[in-house]
Amino acid sequence: MCGIFAVINDKSNNAGQTIRQGLKRLEYRGYDSWGIAVQSDNKIDLIKYVGEVDKTADNIKKLPKSIVGIGHTRWATTGAVTKINAHPHYSTDRSFVLAQNGIVENYEELKKDLTQKKYRFVTQTDTEVITRLIEEELTKNNDLFSAVRQAFLQLKGRNTIIILTKTGQVIAARNGSPLVIGLNPESNEIFISSDVLSFAPFADKMIIIDNNQLVNCINGKIKIFDIRSGQENKYGIENIDIKNDRVDKQGYAHFMLKEINEAPYVINQLLKQDIGAYNELAAAIKKARSVYTIGSGTAGVAAAQTAFYLREYAGINAIYLVGADAREYYELIDKDDLFLAPSQSGETADVLEVLEVVKKKGAKIASFVNMSGSMMTRLSDYKFMAQSGPEICVLSTKVFDAQIAWGYLVAKITAGKTREAKENLRNLSVQIGNYLGNNKTKIQELAKYLLNAHDIFLLGKYQNFQIVREGMIKLVEATYKHAHAIPAGDLKHYAITLMEPGVPVIVVSSNDKVKSDILNTVYEVKARGARVIGISPEFDESFDFHLEVPDSGETSAILNIIPLQLLAYYIALMLGNNIDKPRNIAKSVTVK
Ligand code: G6P
Repeated sequence: MCGIFAVINDKSNNAGQTIRQGLKRLEYRGYDSWGIAVQSDNKIDLIKYVGEVDKTADNIKKLPKSIVGIGHTRWATTGAVTKINAHPHYSTDRSFVLAQNGIVENYEELKKDLTQKKYRFVTQTDTEVITRLIEEELTKNNDLFSAVRQAFLQLKGRNTIIILTKTGQVIAARNGSPLVIGLNPESNEIFISSDVLSFAPFADKMIIIDNNQLVNCINGKIKIFDIRSGQENKYGIENIDIKNDRVDKQGYAHFMLKEINEAPYVINQLLKQDIGAYNELAAAIKKARSVYTIGSGTAGVAAAQTAFYLREYAGINAIYLVGADAREYYELIDKDDLFLAPSQSGETADVLEVLEVVKKKGAKIASFVNMSGSMMTRLSDYKFMAQSGPEICVLSTKVFDAQIAWGYLVAKITAGKTREAKENLRNLSVQIGNYLGNNKTKIQELAKYLLNAHDIFLLGKYQNFQIVREGMIKLVEATYKHAHAIPAGDLKHYAITLMEPGVPVIVVSSNDKVKSDILNTVYEVKARGARVIGISPEFDESFDFHLEVPDSGETSAILNIIPLQLLAYYIALMLGNNIDKPRNIAKSVTVK
């Protein structure tokens, strides 16, 4: 949800261009409009556009040479997608500009008050309210840094802001939405951004900004303060370990296709990890009073699958929580509980809010995160990094594969079956590799078969129930078609009313203990004229279309998501959709 990027001491003296490159890498956070402001000659020049960040530097040429500037890529929350609402926003006297990532929950109240004080608003955003609030604070104390601090303290909600002044000072404040600093000690360049990946090509050190910290950068020198006390804080500098991660499509038409094809790689990455850390987590799982798994969206499905694996393979009564809907559990949590949180970004607001609450109660947290330097990793007692490489497509595919493989590995290690788990995952990685190499045409054929469908139903049970839920998510996100995942056994309790001649029903089944149960459900839908598409190792005569998948035993579910991801991809491709950046959604949702 919105990306912020700043450069200070830009060595090319072309800050606008450096910021454009940074914003391009942040675009997964929002891509409805963007803007860049640079400082030179005691003034600020600003450009703004609706749409995706420019692929070329054409518009940047309108900006003067500069060594310092800030930029923003927007996912609209308050105020429509228009040029005027794009960030950054000028102060009334143009002495500073401001960009924000977050939502000011009390903006209407603040705006009313400021309007009464005769401040004028030219946009519909909550961001402009912060700008005017700082102006108001400046009338009380003519020191910008204190004015920013005072204004920020009045904001409700999760917000991160960045400010550039006409003298080249940069101030940033964090509460909730992510903020990291990148350093290049050789060139003396400093970057401030929503994520590490955006400045990884330019910097090799980083400083992670905590919630309620304020960054002040004057004359290229950084100082960090506590917002509430105003006291200066010490900070640690860490190495950036993703400097060489590639963010190009490597010959694939889309990032989504490239990332689906990286499934074997991400599973192998998992197998390289230090088992000692897993043994510690396994001991904590066994000791915990209650074990919860938590996530949002696709990561939520991974959390649910992790809970399944813990119950099924480790005999642990794990409970899955939806990030946005965990509030009613707050009173039930205590210090002996353990939370497992898979997350691509490690910055999802819904999940972070729950983890902050449970941490205060003394519960322990284990996370599995792909992005370096995240708040979730900071909050965790047991920190696991997916090391899946950057996932650029807004739709999560390879990181989901890694997350459920991690859930499987954790459960098996908890059950004392480390060697078996590693062996199974190693075989799985080979099976997925072979599958990816040999099934393109068949999946394209199925995509064509479903191209005109209005509704697509998916049936799954036991290990495959969460897989059909994730298949549904991929279809909805990529194709904008209505998809509906149903626990196979529950079909007859409600959704059977929708089974009419010709309706497509995808059934995912494995050679496991529920195989005959699920086939019985298939016969029920078949009897009502549904077109049955089976994704399974074996053909059944009820199938109108069969996508054969290899039997991968306990890891079958992990393999079964691959054809569904590919199916969503090919339908979206045939429909001409914007595959890597589907409408309306963002990859990292850092507002509630
Ligand atoms: C958004 C994305 C999903 C993702 C979810 C959680 O909704 O569109 O793909 O699964 O956020 O993100 P996380 O970074 O926590 O995995």
